[in-house]
Amino acid sequence: MIAEAEPELKALTMTVDNQTVNFTEGETIYQVATRHLGEKIPTLCYDDRLEAFGGCRLCVVEVEGMRAPVASCTTKATDGMKVTTQTAKIEKYRKTLLEMVASENRSVDVDPLSGYASQELRTLVDHYDARTGRFAGKKSGTSNYDDKNPFILRDYDNCISCYRCVRVCAEQEGDYAINVMNRGFATQIITEFNSELRDSQCTFCGQCVQTCPTGALGDAKALRATEVEGKIEKTRSICPYCGVGCSVDIMTRGQKIVGVQPAMDGPANKGALCIKGQFAFDFVQHEDRLTQPLIKQEDGTFKEVDWDTALDAAAEGYRKVLEKYGRHAIYGVASGRAPHEAAYTMQKFIRAGFGTNYIDNCSRA
Ligand code: SF4
Ligand code: SF4
Ligand code: FES
Repeated sequence: MIAEAEPELKALTMTVDNQTVNFTEGETIYQVATRHLGEKIPTLCYDDRLEAFGGCRLCVVEVEGMRAPVASCTTKATDGMKVTTQTAKIEKYRKTLLEMVASENRSVDVDPLSGYASQELRTLVDHYDARTGRFAGKKSGTSNYDDKNPFILRDYDNCISCYRCVRVCAEQEGDYAINVMNRGFATQIITEFNSELRDSQCTFCGQCVQTCPTGALGDAKALRATEVEGKIEKTRSICPYCGVGCSVDIMTRGQKIVGVQPAMDGPANKGALCIKGQFAFDFVQHEDRLTQPLIKQEDGTFKEVDWDTALDAAAEGYRKVLEKYGRHAIYGVASGRAPHEAAYTMQKFIRAGFGTNYIDNCSRA
């Protein structure tokens, strides 16, 4: 039998700002332009992890043969297309759009601790010099300060209806905890039956907070951390909870951890976190945290000891169990927080040390 020849892939090309570039069928103008020219096209409702929405129109570009500018995030690239991303006319559109967006908000100046993307609107408004107040008038949004959840501030006076929060909740988290009510100036992000987040499907993963480009949704824990003053520093690390290994940026002020932001380029999580990785970092500096080994005494109290004493006591405990019940009475569970080297050492300790294969890892739970 003669094998069928593979269909020949047609090379697709287009020009972006007079530069000839190739692309794959299905890509949008924004994806092609960004890949070849870097981030030259401004966006507000776009998050590359989500289906493009086309709501803000800030990413408009000119396409030869089309009467009006098109949203580059939703328009597919086609063979031979000629695209221009920066013209005086396009830049004027963008500035006007930003002036209108800024005019309905109480403020575009929000605390960077609000969330990962919280400075996007402010940065664009400043770049386009759009604080003109030309469209000052009616404001949109009704803040939901009464939501008693301890993690997420819901300040919709600063909402621009980009729906990134709604989309990330549905598309990335699969929770559908929030949605949109009403239209125009009365548009509001709500939970089902307009209840509080804690009474909804919300798992407090914080993804809506981190994708919000205006700080309308804020990391309430980080924003409350005002007791220590000073510059915020970010340190890339790995979430200490389970074995997935999500990348995080730990935010500190001096020696104090004030918050956690997901790393958008984290290979295991691409900006996602669960409630523990996002909000449950207090244990690190909690006053109840053990910093010294303790040995339980006959009377039930715990006595602080040095590490050599503690390890001797543990070894003696193992020896007694082994002598009395045999090797299969020992069972090791390695921590999901342990790095590979420690997990390897743990299984070696159980297998070679006691002669049993009763070893597991809590990441499988
Ligand atoms: S915290 Fe997570 S689950 Fe809750 S509304 Fe935001 S994205 Fe949805
Ligand atoms: S709360 Fe933030 S992410 Fe959600 S629609 Fe408003 S501005 Fe967009
Ligand atoms: S980024 Fe394309 S329409 Fe908003």
